[in-house]
Amino acid sequence: MCAIIVPKKRVLNEQKLIESIFYYSNEGIIVCKDYTEIVLANPCALKMFGYDSSEVIGMNIDHLVPHEKREYHKNIRKEYAHRPTARPMGKNIILYALRKDNSLFPVEISLSPFEINGTKYVVCFIVDITERMKTEEKLKEYTELLKKKNEEISYLNQVLESKVKERTRELARVVYELSQSKNELSQALEKEKTLNEIKSRFVSTASHEFRTPLGTILSSASLVQRYTKTEEQEKREKHIQKIKNAVAHLTEILNDFLSLDKLEEGIVRYKPSLIDIAETLKQIVDEITPILKKGQHIIYKHLSESTQCIADTQILTNILFNLISNASKYSEEDKPIVIISKIENNTLVISVKDEGCGIPEPDQQFLFTRFFRAENVSNIQGTGLGLNIVKKYIELMNGHIEFQSQLNKGSTFTIYIPFQIKENKNL
Ligand SMILES: Nc1ncnc2c1ncn2[C@@H]1O[C@H](COP(=O)(O)OP(=O)(O)OP(=O)(O)O)[C@@H](O)[C@H]1O
Ligand SMILES: [Mg+2]
Repeated sequence: MCAIIVPKKRVLNEQKLIESIFYYSNEGIIVCKDYTEIVLANPCALKMFGYDSSEVIGMNIDHLVPHEKREYHKNIRKEYAHRPTARPMGKNIILYALRKDNSLFPVEISLSPFEINGTKYVVCFIVDITERMKTEEKLKEYTELLKKKNEEISYLNQVLESKVKERTRELARVVYELSQSKNELSQALEKEKTLNEIKSRFVSTASHEFRTPLGTILSSASLVQRYTKTEEQEKREKHIQKIKNAVAHLTEILNDFLSLDKLEEGIVRYKPSLIDIAETLKQIVDEITPILKKGQHIIYKHLSESTQCIADTQILTNILFNLISNASKYSEEDKPIVIISKIENNTLVISVKDEGCGIPEPDQQFLFTRFFRAENVSNIQGTGLGLNIVKKYIELMNGHIEFQSQLNKGSTFTIYIPFQIKENKNL
């Protein structure tokens, strides 16, 4: 130990300072002699324990310990006497002290041993932790409450989330169903609209188209009625023929509509068989020749060596009837119609060429549209359905159609129908 020499006046001041610390300290300070007998207690300690100074001085420190802990404290004290160190008391446990009125209060105590003239002392610093413990208790309660509330909130969140998910799923399903039914509805509406358009177009076209042949039938029938004499047979024949032609035309118009209906409903099926195309076309030419205009004639040539191919004769006949009747209808009298067939790379190619009025360039792009008629044919009868039907038939056979046309010079329509002779040989 090193001695510090301090002037006397200063010693006095320091003593006062230390006494003040002892008196005004907010911590309880108790000094025990031989670790047992209380020799000093500051006002804060007296207040804490509820004693007067005269009552405490000379008291065994054990009296400030709760009754049930006294024995234990005594032993601890003895142990401490053997190994006195500066340390806190009761590490990790809450210590309780006993007031004069026998009430208990929680404390935090730290011990510092010292020795004066061979006598052993220990100074105990005591802090009343009642308030702190209350606060800690409250804090614990609040933490517990907060934890509970958090758990509740997280549970509610989960419930809410799963509800939101469920609702979102439901909503998505409803939206999907709605959009489905909206689609179905708009498709149905669209179909209905198209159907109505077709029907009204049909009614107006048919009534217009029917008027001319019906007029012819009526006037020819009236004339036939007038030709009563035997020698007028030739005139009668002429009008009867006119009536027949008019009826044929009516039938043709009706057939057009019927085949369109059948094609759209998918009733028409492609039934291919092995055919001799030259033979088939000759038959078609023979059948159609009577309806050609005066002086018109068909020149037919087959260019390839082979004449065998796979096709549906009925569909082919319908296609060629349409193309040849167009070639005739849109050509003057006496004009030739040239039909050429060939078989190339497993494809049947047939072209129908005329020297008729041709199709104006701007109209050509709409040619296969239903009811479309070019502006240069308004004085010629027609419904504008033939080529639309032809296109549908060709699509049914996986083929395609092309055309070239020059106004007032003529048109050539060429169809291409692919086939596989090996696969279909047995048909
Ligand atoms: N060989 C052709 N020469 C000139 N114009 C043609 C020829 N073929 C078709 N067209 C034009 O194409 C239009 C559509 O032909 P499409 O055969 O579809 O109908 P249409 O002949 O008017 O009536 P229909 O339904 O009675 O056949 C015709 O109105 C005509 O303007
Ligand atoms: Mg036509």
